[in-house]
Amino acid sequence: MLVFGHTIEELELVASTNDYLLDKSRKQRLFEGEVVFTHFQTKGRGQRENSWEALPGQNLLFSVFTLPTFLLGDNFFLLSKVVALALKEVVEEICINDNVEIKWPNDIYVNKKKIGGILIENQFKGNLIKQAVIGIGLNVNQTAFETNNAISLKLLTSKQFEIKKVLELVLQRLEYFYLSLKWGKNKEIESLYLEGLMNLNIEANYLVDSSSVKGIIKQVKNNGVLEIEINKETKCFQFKEIRFLI
Ligand code: BTN
Repeated sequence: MLVFGHTIEELELVASTNDYLLDKSRKQRLFEGEVVFTHFQTKGRGQRENSWEALPGQNLLFSVFTLPTFLLGDNFFLLSKVVALALKEVVEEICINDNVEIKWPNDIYVNKKKIGGILIENQFKGNLIKQAVIGIGLNVNQTAFETNNAISLKLLTSKQFEIKKVLELVLQRLEYFYLSLKWGKNKEIESLYLEGLMNLNIEANYLVDSSSVKGIIKQVKNNGVLEIEINKETKCFQFKEIRFLI
């Protein structure tokens, strides 16, 4: 039986929990569900080669090792979908009166501000995924941010959280959704992901090739491609080809 977090390695400080697990997986055999959790990262990484900044001891920062060998490479984004759903559900449970959304590809937003990010690093073997390190950062008790586009559980609820309790909640939800993926519940996952998606079927502004365009999100494929209707035509975008203008 797979249990996310059967082993939790706790580090006071590390460069990046993703890098740590990737490095460990090169040196020894890891078991699915192994977690590394830290209080502070000196080189936390985000998507688009960005850094992930979080003040010491105030946020949830962890990575989990998985072996989604049942997923075809073309469907790799299904793993992102389930991780986003798990994180969204945990935030929703805590912030019951707020508007929690997934911003494509897999950021978690509350009331249009970012609360959490996900960085999944897959290793492929042919057309199969050999292993995936799932890194999650969730703003928990931090109340001041350099950007005004960020929010935390504490800012939303005025409560202080025990970070390890939040970790437990996320791991439980992750395991639930990961198993539904393993059992092939792709259709349910796809529709839940779309239901939670920011701007689905709503006209909004995007930045494409440095110009602002109006478009309507229609679909996110299981290879991660975003489909947007622009001037009545469906256009496909890879992650780096488009930005949301919120
Ligand atoms: C993003 O939104 O750009 C993704 C952010 C992912 C941050 C987490 S924190 C734990 C793990 N270790 C990292 O270096 N990054 C991920």
